[in-house]
Amino acid sequence: MEIAVKPSNPVTEAGACIVVGVFEDQQLTPAAAALDSTSHGLISAILQQGDLQGQVGQTLLLYRVPQIKAERVLLVGLGKVKKCTETGFQKAAAAAAHALQEAHIGAAVFYLADTPVSGHDVAWTTQILARSIAESGYRFDKYRTPPEKPAGELGRAHIALPEGMEEGALQQAVARAQAIARASAWARDLANEPGNVCTPSWLADQASAMAHRLGIQASILGPEEMEVLGMRLLLGVASGSSQPPRLIVLEYHGAPSGQAPIVLVGKGLTFDAGGISLKPGDKMDEMKYDMCGGASVLAAIQAAAELKLPINVVAVVPASENLPDGKANKPGDIQKSMNGLTVEILNTDAEGRLILADALTYVERFKPDVVIDVATLTGACVIALGHHAAGLLGNNQRLIHDLLAAGREGLDRAWEMPLWEEYEEQLKSPFADLGNIGGRPAGTITAACFLSRFAENYHWAHLDIAGVAWKSGEKKGATGRPVPLLVNYLLHRAAQQQE
Ligand code: BES
Ligand code: MN
Ligand code: ZN
Repeated sequence: MEIAVKPSNPVTEAGACIVVGVFEDQQLTPAAAALDSTSHGLISAILQQGDLQGQVGQTLLLYRVPQIKAERVLLVGLGKVKKCTETGFQKAAAAAAHALQEAHIGAAVFYLADTPVSGHDVAWTTQILARSIAESGYRFDKYRTPPEKPAGELGRAHIALPEGMEEGALQQAVARAQAIARASAWARDLANEPGNVCTPSWLADQASAMAHRLGIQASILGPEEMEVLGMRLLLGVASGSSQPPRLIVLEYHGAPSGQAPIVLVGKGLTFDAGGISLKPGDKMDEMKYDMCGGASVLAAIQAAAELKLPINVVAVVPASENLPDGKANKPGDIQKSMNGLTVEILNTDAEGRLILADALTYVERFKPDVVIDVATLTGACVIALGHHAAGLLGNNQRLIHDLLAAGREGLDRAWEMPLWEEYEEQLKSPFADLGNIGGRPAGTITAACFLSRFAENYHWAHLDIAGVAWKSGEKKGATGRPVPLLVNYLLHRAAQQQE
């Protein structure tokens, strides 16, 4: 979709549709007030009659507003005046884009970038607005027979430049929003693919194709290379599947080669049946989403390359299936990791930490500035935080602080959990250096504790995205999270670079 910023006056703008905001209690935004006075009070009359109350996300489409050049006006509610919240603004923007699609309107000009959202500037509202517009068209319907009447598509959107603002700065906000939206749509596409298509080698092929297109260096490791490296944890998980595992390694060089890279590691479990510790059948289909962490780091490095950020980024995805089979790991099996620690596999369904452990050891070779791993790691994280925040744990407060800020900025929040040494007790094994499970209490924390044993040689943080990576039920589908958080973090690091 085409999105651009332009100076524009709502009264004289000619075109299919203009989108203006109204608040509750019949308060008008400047654009709505301009339309109101030109049309001799039409907008305030509508609000007075109660046809639109101005609550967040309400919309009303008007035709032929007198004295206005545009063919249509879409009014959108922004909530209480001066109290537009961050998520309220995002909801209103998405509702407006949705209403345009429903009405099959192909082009629109949005007068919403000057909406006051406390704590944020116009560049921020512009970025969220552009992202909401770009994301509103997302669909995953390639496997369905096309309907006779296809849904409407918003092909072209303009964001009206608020008075006194510089076009260049907002154009940059739009470019970033579009890179985030494209990355997040790609992550959703990869994740929504069924497990019979999205196998470890398919995922590796997709990553290579993207890398090739953007000049990113790619290398894909298979079982033979893993054997040589001693990645027995990753190989052990893959041993129950007829699909060979892959280690996807992408390197984007946006800065001189001497500069330590930001390394992103994502869990790429393309289907998690639990292995011999088989999962119950209910909702097991959703375990095709167990590669969402991997998809998000591939998408983030794509955005870094598209935006030509002046930093070095590495994305590493251990990809495997976790299935029951005669060759699969069994409870009680002991495997040796790449860093030498032995692990007693007490539950084969705690496989994410195993494949990540070897990937975390592997990335030491990059002498990373920081390492961030992203994984749909524990059901316990869904119990702790629900579907609103990713769990965040790590061994470096600066990194954690920056990731929390990047999440708030992108409306893709994370929440810190403690990683105290007291929890390590739960991972003791009578026969090996570590057990792979820590019992029911604090399941997200003990999983991170396990990972921390393989991340001791660098600054590291772990995002448990089990609750946020996809939606169940009627709107089942991948969300693209935490791509906005990751890309905002990379943008922040790139900006520091230039200071
Ligand atoms: N991929 C799952 C985690 C998961 C489960 C995410 C459900 C979202 C929804 C992971 O591999 C897993 O199975 N974890 C186990 C760990 C347990 C055996 C210690 C879990 O959370 O039950
Ligand atoms: Mn599992
Ligand atoms: Zn899993």
